[in-house]
Amino acid sequence: MKSAYSYLRVIGYLILAFLLFELTIDAGDKMAIEAYPIIGLVLLVILFFAIAFEAIIGTVRNTMYRALSAEAKERHDLAKQEREAKRFKKLKAWYHKQLDSKPMEKEETIVLDHDYDGIKELDNNLPPWWINLFYLTIIFAVGYMLYYHVFDGPTQEMEYDREVAAAAIAVEEYKKNNPDLIDASSVEMLTEESDLKAGKSIYDTNCAVCHRADGGGGIGPNLTDEYWILGGDIASVYNVVAEGGRSGKGMIAWKGELNPLEMAQVSSYILTMQGTNPADAKEPEGDLYVPEE
Ligand code: HEC
Repeated sequence: MKSAYSYLRVIGYLILAFLLFELTIDAGDKMAIEAYPIIGLVLLVILFFAIAFEAIIGTVRNTMYRALSAEAKERHDLAKQEREAKRFKKLKAWYHKQLDSKPMEKEETIVLDHDYDGIKELDNNLPPWWINLFYLTIIFAVGYMLYYHVFDGPTQEMEYDREVAAAAIAVEEYKKNNPDLIDASSVEMLTEESDLKAGKSIYDTNCAVCHRADGGGGIGPNLTDEYWILGGDIASVYNVVAEGGRSGKGMIAWKGELNPLEMAQVSSYILTMQGTNPADAKEPEGDLYVPEE
């Protein structure tokens, strides 16, 4: 016995199985079916079983129906008709109420006297679903107007600024959590108090022995003047810190000991010492570095 309900049930079983898999199997960010393609196969098997199940039930019903006496068949058919009429009765009633259209038999009561080459026009009521939606938009408009124009809700510009600010914070956060993203080509001068503080403490522990605590220079060159052997912009400084100076001079590569963020912090800290002019500083070495505009 094929019926639309059989098809619906089979689809229903499938959706249910699919949802069960998705809800019970933890596959991280992916969908379970993406992470475990075997689920697709399982669903296929379930599909076959569901079809077989429906087919068997249908056949059993059919056979039993045929075995009935004529009288019993009639009773059965009547009961079935009744059941079908009752099914979704409320829903159907509600649906018709929302349409509020005249049944075809009564159409002559609402036909207008316009006649366009034999085409006539009916004067149906506006459907209630449409009118209700319309009222809803009016209520919404009142709320909208009060919120934005009377009680000064945020303008688009304010919302934009707020989102940009939130995004900037998220970017900062992301950079902090992914320090390895920085390299000599992307490094930027860090200006946050916390970064410079971290830079200073890295400098004091690792660099002060050779460059002096105040940057005036010792074994290594003076870092407070405008003269640089290897370049005075943040990218060059970062590069020296990461890769070391010229070979044999004593400035090692720090990328093995410091992570990229730490190297960016200490490089930024060094550049804040520019022009501090400490006492007994080492003579300038290298070339005058003039920052580009
Ligand atoms: C063992 C001593 C020593 C230590 C420790 C040391 N440096 Fe150096 N540094 C040097 C020497 C020597 C040079 C010069 C390299 C050259 O001439 O190639 C130098 C050069 C530099 C330069 C380039 C200066 C220029 O004029 O271009 C920077 C920047 C620098 N060091 C930063 C650091 C930082 C940051 C640290 C700590 C993480 C550090 N150094 C630790 C010895 C040292």
